[in-house]
Amino acid sequence: MSSKGSNGTSAGKPKLAVNVGGIQMINPVTTASGTFGFGTEYAPYVDLNRLGAIVVKGTTLAPRAGNPTPRLVETPAGVLNSIGLQNPGVDHFIDEALPYLAGFDVPVIVNISGDTVEDYARLADRLSQAGGVAGLEVNISCPNVKKGGMQFGSDPIMAAEVTRAVKGKTSLPVIVKLSPNVTSIVSVAEKVAEAGADALSLINTLLGMSIDTKTRRPFLGNVMGGLSGPAIRPVAVRMVWQVYQAVKLPIIGMGGIVTAEDAIEFILAGATAVAVGTANFVNPHTTIDVVEGIEKYLYENGVSDLNELIGAAHG
Ligand code: SIN
Repeated sequence: MSSKGSNGTSAGKPKLAVNVGGIQMINPVTTASGTFGFGTEYAPYVDLNRLGAIVVKGTTLAPRAGNPTPRLVETPAGVLNSIGLQNPGVDHFIDEALPYLAGFDVPVIVNISGDTVEDYARLADRLSQAGGVAGLEVNISCPNVKKGGMQFGSDPIMAAEVTRAVKGKTSLPVIVKLSPNVTSIVSVAEKVAEAGADALSLINTLLGMSIDTKTRRPFLGNVMGGLSGPAIRPVAVRMVWQVYQAVKLPIIGMGGIVTAEDAIEFILAGATAVAVGTANFVNPHTTIDVVEGIEKYLYENGVSDLNELIGAAHG
C-alpha cells in the first residue's frame, strides 16, 4: 500500500497525520539526527516528501572535526558511535543544506548542540532567522563530547536552563532530546516541560564501550561511545512509557526501530511520532517501509486514525 498523498484526507484511508508541538506532519515517521545526514545523502533512495519530517545532522555554531577514529563499531544488535558532533557548522548548514531542503515539502527539524547555554541560544536565534526551519531539536544528550551534551541533559536544572535559553530566542517549536544515561529520565522531562519545551525526543544513545581482544585496547578512539540499534529498543520503550505518564508533551520515540511493528510499539507506549535511526545504515529505505507498514497495520486493524493509538497501551 502506498502512502503517497495519503495524509488522512482520502476516504477509506486511515489518517496518519500527527502534530508534534506545533509541527504538522503527514505521518509520524521522521529520522534520528546523525543517521540521515542533511537529507541529500538519502534523496537517491527515499522520496523525502513522503516523510513526516526530517531531523538533520546535529549542528553547532562553529564547524567541528569530531572525535579521533575509529568512531563506529558494530555490536550484537547495535552500533556504538563516538562521532563527537562532527559537522560543518551552522553557517554552512544555512547556506548549503537549507536551500536544498527548501525544494521539498517536508518539515525540517534542526538538531542543535553547544558547549555552553549561550551557544544553544545563539543557534536558536540564528536558525529562527534563517527561514525554512520547522522546529529545533535541542540536543542535551550527546554522550561523546567533553562540554555540553549529556552533561546538560543529566542535570534537570541545567536541562531546564538550556530549554529556557532556547525558548527565549525562538518562536519555533522546541523539542528537547533526552538522555537515557540518567537515574530518572522522568525528573529531567518534568523540568524541561516546566521550562517551556513544546515536545520531547527520547532516547539518545546509551553510553557503552567495546574492547578488541586482539589489540587489548578499546575499539573506539574516544574509548566510550553511544549504543543505538535494536539492542536498546526495550529501554527506549520503557522510557517513553514512563515519560508519557508523567509529562503531557508530545514525544518523538526512538531507539532501534526497524519495522512498522517497532514503531507501533513506541506509539502504544505514548509516542506521537517516531524516528528511524541506525536502521537507515542497513536499509536506506527503512523510513518509507515503516510509513507503509504503519498504514497497513491501521488498515488491517480497523483503526481510522493513528492518533487513537497514542498511549493506548496504558489502558
Ligand atoms: C555524536 O555526534 O557523537 C552523536 C550525536 C549524539 O549522540 O547526539
